[in-house]
Amino acid sequence: MAFLIDGKKISAEIKDELREKVAALKEAGKELTLAVIQVGNDKASTVYVGNKKKACEYIGVRSLAYELPEETTEEELLNLIAELNARDDVNGILVQLPLPKGICEDKVLLAIDPNKDVDGFHPVNVGRLWIGDKGFESCTPAGVIQLLKRSGITISGKECVVIGRSNIVGKPMAAMLLRENGTVTVCHSRTKNLSEVTKRADILVVAIGKPKFITAEYVKEGAVVIDVGIHRNEDNKLCGDVDFESVEPVASAITPVPGGVGPMTIAMLMCNVVRSEEIK
Ligand code: GUN
Repeated sequence: MAFLIDGKKISAEIKDELREKVAALKEAGKELTLAVIQVGNDKASTVYVGNKKKACEYIGVRSLAYELPEETTEEELLNLIAELNARDDVNGILVQLPLPKGICEDKVLLAIDPNKDVDGFHPVNVGRLWIGDKGFESCTPAGVIQLLKRSGITISGKECVVIGRSNIVGKPMAAMLLRENGTVTVCHSRTKNLSEVTKRADILVVAIGKPKFITAEYVKEGAVVIDVGIHRNEDNKLCGDVDFESVEPVASAITPVPGGVGPMTIAMLMCNVVRSEEIK
């Protein structure tokens, strides 16, 4: 039976550690503030933003919430970002994605001061990650690294296979596994003989966006399997990109969905907010 990597427990530990750090910073007279901007009322975004605000409250970070109407123009949003960039009392700025049609996401993400970019999406932070400089890191892959490390799983020297090449997960995941001295392969929709490649993996990270796509045939006996996907099935139950029932018997360790990678994203966002003082 595979060891279950408990993202709920590990994310709670991280948030508790951060809470102590924030309390110590407060004692030293330093208060941290995260500005969270949501444009429009996408339902999923409202839930995510609500969870981010709750996490701020838990660890003792002040959150400034900007809930802008759907009709907000790109110029208005860019003006708000410029104002927040200039404020000394704002440490982090997060613009919840997706943005309404008519606002260019790339332009908005570029407008955020890289030293306040707690999502780690700005090209400056992407570059810092690849060259090994200190910077903000994309939260979901950073959460995967923490899950592995805090579960006692060595990355160095391992065959690591990432399925998915998005800017938010797949690409930064590859950079982070490489930084940890893994031997990294990135697979995507054009990869030939996918199962031949994934069967080489000691550590398999799945961010493919297709429910229960990865079955036991894709997994080497004893591999560590990390499932970044999250979907609702026909019965309204949550499932991942990995067919858990099929893969669990062959894996040595596996993340469940829910309760695996999911809770780590916000914990790592909070980690970035607390690290904002280091990145200047
Ligand atoms: N939308 C979905 N996930 C994310 C995220 O991690 N950050 C932001 N800003 N928007 C998102």
